[in-house]
Amino acid sequence: MTRSPLAEHWLLDPAITFLNHGSFGACPRVVLDEQSRWRERMEREPVLFLHREIEGLLDSARGALAQFVGAQPDDLAFVVNATTGVNTVLRSVPLVAGDEVLVTDQEYNACRNALDHIAARRGARVVVAHVPFPLRDEAEVIAPIVAAVTPRTRLLLVDFVTSQTGLVMPIRRIVEAMHARGVAVLVDGAHAPGMVPLELDALGAEWFTGNCHKWLCTPKGSAFLHVRRDRQAEMRPLVISHGANSRRSDRSRFRIEADWIGTHDPTPWLCIPTALRFLGGLMPGGIEALRAHNRSLVLEGRRLVCEALGIEAPAPEAMIGSLASIPLPPGKAGEAPLFLDPLQVRLFDAERIELPIMGLDSPPRRLLRISAQAYNARGEYVRLAAVLPRLLRETAPD
Ligand SMILES: Cc1ncc(COP(=O)(O)O)c(C=O)c1O
Repeated sequence: MTRSPLAEHWLLDPAITFLNHGSFGACPRVVLDEQSRWRERMEREPVLFLHREIEGLLDSARGALAQFVGAQPDDLAFVVNATTGVNTVLRSVPLVAGDEVLVTDQEYNACRNALDHIAARRGARVVVAHVPFPLRDEAEVIAPIVAAVTPRTRLLLVDFVTSQTGLVMPIRRIVEAMHARGVAVLVDGAHAPGMVPLELDALGAEWFTGNCHKWLCTPKGSAFLHVRRDRQAEMRPLVISHGANSRRSDRSRFRIEADWIGTHDPTPWLCIPTALRFLGGLMPGGIEALRAHNRSLVLEGRRLVCEALGIEAPAPEAMIGSLASIPLPPGKAGEAPLFLDPLQVRLFDAERIELPIMGLDSPPRRLLRISAQAYNARGEYVRLAAVLPRLLRETAPD
């Protein structure tokens, strides 16, 4: 049997070997049922729900999330996704001409685009630190970032878990090293909630954004932005709405503005407590046990694939969470309109295996990424490892 018995909690198609939780998550049935209940309640009396009840409901979801991520509820704003969290911070930070903003060459493309856009508008310079992959230890991440700091560096944008390479960055050490040099840190923790333990107050980064719709398995459109108290006054949401001239004084303008960005569906955020309860109840030991399960499963998957390809593991086990990337030999270019790697297309079309194959630019590298979530099982990675060498040969450049 290749499927986990826990897969029955998800709607995932049993005909597909789904090894890509990382891209968009996957929401379990009980959480979707909860979302339907919230939506029905909203539509029974939309004004009551969205005007009078919503604030208390969001506060209650925010309280549960705050406890889970080790933060104060007042420092948390809901956003629809981590891309929005990163954009919100970058638009709000007072950068001026001549400032430098630092990023690694493993930054997620969408957020790098946001950084380039804002830097160009403010006349700031984007400095890119090269982080190697494969790599042997955390020092190979920290050293190039520290070496790229200058007296003009205002901010580092860094992923907690990198997208293409699936590395858990040594985020505490990075934040400490930046603060020691007077550099503020925006942590893109898109993959972090549910994959790695979070203590945001203790971490002390100026800004931290994380998705709940990836490893916490909430409905899509559920994420948060944590802003350290001393940086909240400068924060403005991407959408200016009623909060901008609110006369209320019972909560911060940061909270008032963030909580209403125009009419939208807030139910993905309201499902956070249910998702936490669901994941916490999947195995004895709760979410911590689930994290450990996913980690050992993805490490086993990586071992099987590396063995099939005859290569060494490209990163230390200490830097792996529930994602693992494995270098592949160079392949053919993908074709328009999606430019998907031909091997990725072939894995899906011929074997019904869903996973991403991604590139890193300098030097050009081609990476296969696997994910492990509760619904996955060892047999799925065995199957991948068994078909991979043949499909690599069949899709190799002429
Ligand atoms: C590091 C990183 N940042 C941001 C994102 C974007 O997440 P979202 O599309 O939910 O905004 C991702 C998505 O995989 C990611 O890996």
